[in-house]
Amino acid sequence: MSTLQIRYENVTRLCHRKSIVTVNGKFPGPRIVAREGDRLLIKVVNNVHNNISIHWHGIRQLQTGWADGPAYVTQCPNQTGQSYVYNYTITGQRGTLFWHAHISWLRSTLYGPLIILPKQGSQYPFPKPHKEVPIIFGEWWNADPEAVISEALQSGGGPNVSDAYTMNGLPGPLYNCSAKDTFKLKVKAGEIYLLRLINAAVNDQLFFSIANHTLTVVEVDAVYVKPFATNTILIAPGQTTNVLLKTKPHYPNATFLMTARPYATGSGTFDNSTVAGLLEYKTSHKNHHSTALPLLRPVLPALNDTSFATKFTNKLRSLATAQFPANVPQKVDRHFFFTVSLGTSPCKKNQTCQGPNGTKFAASVNNVSFALPTTTSLLQSHFFSQSNGVYTTNFPTTPLNPFNYTGTPPNNTMVSNGTKMVVLPYNTSVELVMQDTSILGAENHPLHLHGFNFFVVGQGFGNFDPKNDPANFNLVDPVERNTVGVPSGGWVAIRFLADNPGVWFMHCHLEVHTSWGLRMAWVVLDGNLPNQKLLPPPSDLPKC
Ligand code: C2O
Repeated sequence: MSTLQIRYENVTRLCHRKSIVTVNGKFPGPRIVAREGDRLLIKVVNNVHNNISIHWHGIRQLQTGWADGPAYVTQCPNQTGQSYVYNYTITGQRGTLFWHAHISWLRSTLYGPLIILPKQGSQYPFPKPHKEVPIIFGEWWNADPEAVISEALQSGGGPNVSDAYTMNGLPGPLYNCSAKDTFKLKVKAGEIYLLRLINAAVNDQLFFSIANHTLTVVEVDAVYVKPFATNTILIAPGQTTNVLLKTKPHYPNATFLMTARPYATGSGTFDNSTVAGLLEYKTSHKNHHSTALPLLRPVLPALNDTSFATKFTNKLRSLATAQFPANVPQKVDRHFFFTVSLGTSPCKKNQTCQGPNGTKFAASVNNVSFALPTTTSLLQSHFFSQSNGVYTTNFPTTPLNPFNYTGTPPNNTMVSNGTKMVVLPYNTSVELVMQDTSILGAENHPLHLHGFNFFVVGQGFGNFDPKNDPANFNLVDPVERNTVGVPSGGWVAIRFLADNPGVWFMHCHLEVHTSWGLRMAWVVLDGNLPNQKLLPPPSDLPKC
């Protein structure tokens, strides 16, 4: 059993020293390395004042929903002085994932890589890398991120943006006071490196590129893809991307910047700064002075380059081989159509709010801004058949008031509030179309589904056309993942098989949108066989 001690640690970035919540005093948190098939027992001990819960992002948690981690969804959070053992087995998954806190905005400092190696004796379906290097992107606030989001929820306005992006916790030379805090990747000429890229940023999708080098994408969200070469990748919060980096055949007499900055489509303000790390070649020449080397910088797409984003996501295809098949559901039992959208909620009487026209910012799925319970978790109320007063099962399968989603936005932008879920019998095959809207501006939303991988069978701009668009769906080799960007002013169609009993959260992985209510949950019922049932809760499950 490994132990994660949640404790404070003083950390300095951008010349600001502050106490942050960490795992084992590390920022970013420690790397967890496992193998496909392993059972993990991870004890989380809370030594801070905040309530804590940890999510193993992308792990399917077959029958072990109690170990999934989202606060008030699958567990009450772990309170000060308490501990909880996350107990789960990694089945049928290998690749790069990550873990992060799943309560409020604590994941801004509580995150780390979760690496699943293939079973002993099995190989990667690509050339064996000389070395593997995780690169985890994060977001740094000089202020306390918990104060940032609580102030925003109070005032109703947009939260303050971060002060820097980080690469393995380091902002790099393009920020004030940060040249010494630069991630360096030291490589040899003529080798292959596997970079495990993880976007753990709180609110921003990122473009990433290395000057004068090509990257070959081989895996996303712990699923192999058909390899393709690109200079730049796009990675949303919640997504992971494994790329092969083939170094130059000979010592290049140059140093190369690796940079990342946002892909942002919304109309709100965002942190438009750039994180940089260094790719340095080792030389055998003894008298070489690396200070004299030219420093090359990559050119990243424009901050709102949706055309790049579309081209990039269209290149992602499942490997779809006999060994790694794409098990796309070919028939659909239940169709769902969800709008994902910003919106507003009313300001309290005698208060002035900072959101649009004096209201508060909100966000919703099918106009329901999802409220979490506060005295229990959804999974507990489901398992113990105590849903009364906690949740209802009437989540709308299509919008109650259809409109021209991507046309002129309606005048009424108010959302409704509720804790509504969708109930699915075991093994239901689901097709879900998620539609962006123009309410308060079109925006790309990275939607994350817990408990499942899904296949991205189609996407497009404008309103989804249920008559003509399905004819173009890819049911052969669509990419399989756990987080997908709903195109700005467009839609995406996914399919998944509901073969995992439990309560599964689905939300925008831009944390500010989750905070505003862009979230919902699915209840998947038990099947008949013993291995199709949710296991009983562990005895140390935290109480609210
Ligand atoms: Cu990575 Cu529900 O989260």
